Amino acid sequence: MRKVLLSVFGLLINMVCVSSSSMYDSIFWDPQNPLFRNKSQSCSTGYMTLKVRLQSKVFFICPNTATVLQKTSSAPQSATMYENLWIAYDRSVFDQCNTSLSNTSKLLFGCNDPTALKYFPVVFAEFTADPNSLKFKDGKKYYFIGTSDGTQTHFNDPTGGHCNDTKNGIFMKIEVYVCKKSNLTHTGNVQLLQYN
Ligand SMILES: *[C@@H]1O[C@H](CO)[C@@H](O)[C@H](O)[C@H]1NC(C)=O
Ligand SMILES: *[C@@H]1O[C@H](CO)[C@@H](O)[C@H](O)[C@H]1NC(C)=O
Ligand SMILES: *[C@@H]1O[C@H](CO)[C@@H](O)[C@H](O)[C@H]1NC(C)=O
Ligand SMILES: *[C@@H]1O[C@H](CO)[C@@H](O)[C@H](O)[C@H]1NC(C)=O
Ligand SMILES: *[C@@H]1O[C@H](CO)[C@@H](O)[C@H](O)[C@H]1NC(C)=O
Repeated sequence: MRKVLLSVFGLLINMVCVSSSSMYDSIFWDPQNPLFRNKSQSCSTGYMTLKVRLQSKVFFICPNTATVLQKTSSAPQSATMYENLWIAYDRSVFDQCNTSLSNTSKLLFGCNDPTALKYFPVVFAEFTADPNSLKFKDGKKYYFIGTSDGTQTHFNDPTGGHCNDTKNGIFMKIEVYVCKKSNLTHTGNVQLLQYN
């Protein structure tokens, strides 16, 4: 009897954990990632949108020589694997790929070692004890952009770069919408990474 009760209890805890917080598929923050390619053929405007729930978590993973996203005949070029990751709260920053347009833009991470596995976790938390941690509100949009052109000398650039690499059809930018807490139509694991 005790065993049965325990397993039911365990199951309940599991269900609560799943619906209140999730781990999403990692995002390879890499211009080679097909997600960031201009898919104009499918009537898109050129950027990814992601819907998340509060308390969920996603890892942004830096380009590295060991992770090959597309079959290639040439060796990975570590000299072009220096990327950065910004969060912006202003639509104009996202649209114009210029983090200087708002003083709220924040550089989250620099990918400066292509030979290592470097990653940055983002928790879509509403409250955190750490004043330096990111905070998110439900029903709001947030913007993640990468403004490096891949080279070591430009990986601190605050504008342009792979965020608006029209020459190669690459747009390293993601619009993240934090679903409303009250939205009961989405109780489970929400991760809809789709082309806008
Ligand atoms: C995507 O590419 C097409 C043609 O290659 C171009 O007309 C369109 O402006 C591009 N989209 C963006 C967002 O630059
Ligand atoms: C993106 O780059 C293209 C070509 O360099 C330029 O014409 C365009 O104005 C840029 N767009 C933004 C939003 O910066
Ligand atoms: C970015 O925005 C700043 C502030 O408005 C402006 O001074 C700068 O010229 C812009 N840079 C680019 C490349 O558009
Ligand atoms: C950021 O800019 C706003 C106006 O756009 C200004 O009121 C605020 O003081 C600025 N904050 C900092 C830290 O510079
Ligand atoms: C709930 O979420 C779905 C998918 O994100 C959206 O289509 C719908 O409009 C939302 N409903 C409300 C009441 O916000």
